[in-house]
Amino acid sequence: MNNKVYKVFNDQVQAELYSAYMYLAMSLYLEDQNFKGMAHWMRLQYEEEREHAFRLAKFMQERGVKPELLQIDAPPAEFGTPLEVFKKALEHEKYVTSRIHAMYEVAMEEKDYAAMTHLHWFIDEQVEEEDQTRDIVDRLAMVGDNMNGLFVVDGQLGARK
Ligand SMILES: [Fe+2]
Ligand SMILES: [Fe+2]
Repeated sequence: MNNKVYKVFNDQVQAELYSAYMYLAMSLYLEDQNFKGMAHWMRLQYEEEREHAFRLAKFMQERGVKPELLQIDAPPAEFGTPLEVFKKALEHEKYVTSRIHAMYEVAMEEKDYAAMTHLHWFIDEQVEEEDQTRDIVDRLAMVGDNMNGLFVVDGQLGARK
């Protein structure tokens, strides 16, 4: 793994941990608003993002380089309505997708085939994460500020395994 590839992988460990931190903040915020199902969904998202950070760091070690853990910024504490929370999550996932694609370009330019293969999993994962989050945004947009509707969606998200 050369320095350019190292840099993008190392920075992405930090970005995945920031994502985890942001989803944790969203989970706590939603719990505080009594949307317990949505809070549960966000807590699982938090755990997935930590798993992504670990997956990248482990790959770096397997390639014989040492990940350097960088500082994680504090996420916001307030996110607005449930629709606004999930819209922000979707925007964030789109941003992460653009980062993963930029990593892939670096790996391709540097002819780092192992890094390219490793990134295929992340490229697919981003498609799934954007799709799931967009689906929730659509459902929340449909119910608007109807409380019954909001609690139906809350119950659906609470069933996430
Ligand atoms: Fe991720
Ligand atoms: Fe994600």
